[in-house]
Amino acid sequence: MKNILVTGGAGFIGSNFVHLMLKNHDYNIINIDSLTYAGNLDNLKDIENDSRYTFVKADIRDRAAVTEIFKKYDIDTVVNFAAESHVDRSITEPEIFLTTNIIGTQNLLDVAKSFWKINPDDKYSFDYKDGVKYLQVSTDEVYGALGKTGMFMETTPLSPNSPYSASKASADMVVRAYHETFKMPINITRCSNNYGPYQFPEKLIPLMINNCKAGKSLPVYGDGMQIRDWLHVSDHCAAIDTVLHKGKDGEIYNVGGNNEKANIEIVKLIIKALGKSEDLIKYVKDRPGHDRRYAIDNTKITTELGWAPKYTFEEGIKETIEWYLANEEWMNKITSGEYTKYYDNMYKKAEK
Ligand code: NAD
Ligand code: DAU
Repeated sequence: MKNILVTGGAGFIGSNFVHLMLKNHDYNIINIDSLTYAGNLDNLKDIENDSRYTFVKADIRDRAAVTEIFKKYDIDTVVNFAAESHVDRSITEPEIFLTTNIIGTQNLLDVAKSFWKINPDDKYSFDYKDGVKYLQVSTDEVYGALGKTGMFMETTPLSPNSPYSASKASADMVVRAYHETFKMPINITRCSNNYGPYQFPEKLIPLMINNCKAGKSLPVYGDGMQIRDWLHVSDHCAAIDTVLHKGKDGEIYNVGGNNEKANIEIVKLIIKALGKSEDLIKYVKDRPGHDRRYAIDNTKITTELGWAPKYTFEEGIKETIEWYLANEEWMNKITSGEYTKYYDNMYKKAEK
């Protein structure tokens, strides 16, 4: 592994991953990102002059651009983070979720296949160069929703409920098919909800911290008793690093930290940490098709690959809240302009 193509590396998890890889390894990282509203080069300011790091503004759906990058940088590994990632946006604007998340994935696979196959023109020959790998960063949402009991295993049937999760499940199927049909060396990781630095404040935790700090109301969907299984982003990135190096060809790995919390618990914890009043909580209309509960069974990655989360939730959330409070300028830059329009539009409609 020498030249790793990270897609979506200017987003939340991608930028944390770029940081982690440069810290832990001596690889070249080529980050391509089309810089949608969620892509933010400020997330990478501290490493932008590292000689092992290159940024190229490109769309994963653009065949010519991706081909050029493979050619120029001799890419041997792909880690595909690039995606439309917000469930609420997929409800109002599904199409881009399908083109980016599915067609973008297929485009990356096709280009990788053509560069990595030893006989690219022979349709029945499936030998690949040594050491190449495509890793698809997927999500636990592809499994759908759980009731009060049970956990998602890698063998749980896919049953996505939102346009976002349907697009991610479709992409997983395409990746799987390229492995089955073309024998492409792949892995898929399916992680639970991440929290930590650089998360766009449309997502629960940074949104609540930001609103709470400003004394704005805290919009809780439905009864607030939906459960998510929270994992610190650096633990997710370490899991991807582990799968890249130790993952068995063609395998899927669930990633989670056994840390289930109801949304309302998270909101109350943030209120307490910021010394504000629970009067800020405002119950709003529920998200359509809202998944009730997610929980990851992480037995496979912990027992077969030896990965385990380092953060306890208590440490991680404390550090995360402190990070958002300390990085006011980062947050202010995002929440001025377009974000305000998005926020007003999204939450005005949700008022009960
Ligand atoms: P994000 O929205 O913060 O970042 C996505 C990045 O992809 C942005 O930088 C954006 O500019 C870029 N991008 C979007 N469309 C693109 C395109 N067509 N071409 C190139 N770049 C494009 O998302 P995130 O939360 O960092 O999630 C990253 C990946 O991890 C996604 O695939 C998501 O499905 C998956 N995931 C997220 C979580 C979570 O809790 N956030 C959990 C499990 C899996
Ligand atoms: O499970 C992994 C997934 O986690 C990832 O695949 C997605 O990319 C990521 O966005 C996240 O999806 P969720 O829908 O779980 O995350 P979100 O932060 O949007 O919402 C978390 C929970 O909080 C969910 O039950 C909805 C609720 N919520 C969210 C917002 C933004 C609220 O009650 N109020 C809000 O304002």
